[in-house]
Amino acid sequence: MSRTTITYRQGDTSKFYYQACEKLSDSGWKEIGSGNYGSVWEHPDCDTVLKVGVHDNDNDGWLDYARSCAKTRSPHAPRIEAIEIHPEFYYAELERLQPLPRDRYQAEGLERHGYAGCIQTPSLRAYVRRTERLRRNSTHGPDYHEGNFMVRPTTGEIVCTDPWY
Ligand SMILES: Nc1ncnc2c1ncn2[C@@H]1O[C@H](COP(=O)(O)OP(=O)(O)O)[C@@H](O)[C@H]1O
Ligand SMILES: [Mg+2]
Repeated sequence: MSRTTITYRQGDTSKFYYQACEKLSDSGWKEIGSGNYGSVWEHPDCDTVLKVGVHDNDNDGWLDYARSCAKTRSPHAPRIEAIEIHPEFYYAELERLQPLPRDRYQAEGLERHGYAGCIQTPSLRAYVRRTERLRRNSTHGPDYHEGNFMVRPTTGEIVCTDPWY
């Protein structure tokens, strides 16, 4: 009996997504971050950034989270200027944020992944609780890790950017 090697090739995931990224790269955009479901791009003439994400039609973790962000004034929600949904991928124009340093992530109590009770800042704790409540009524799983919290450079506030998959 032989062992079977199964390979997943990224290029097959979403042709449209990769075409969109190629277009951005050809017109002066630079990738500044990426995750399992998308990438984030900057342009020298733009204060905001552009997220390009692969989406699963009506059941996408980030798009559903983004819809919930439109209904809150919490400073811990990212400011999303616009979203353009195409078949298989979307563009979202977002405020530009900075990475959350690891020591601050830990000091805030965020490394306990979704255990909102451990979060030190009351407004962030309340926001993560709200986010969890909404998630439990959805089909999404929790995706709390260091890369999914960022900092708003103008105020130093922690922003929860991508908590659901
Ligand atoms: N608003 C933002 N400003 C700057 N960089 C960002 C922003 N949002 C996300 N990023 C960067 O892009 C990475 C991927 O974004 P994320 O929203 O987590 O997408 P994914 O669904 O692929 O995990 C993040 O880990 C972060 O480094
Ligand atoms: Mg992420």
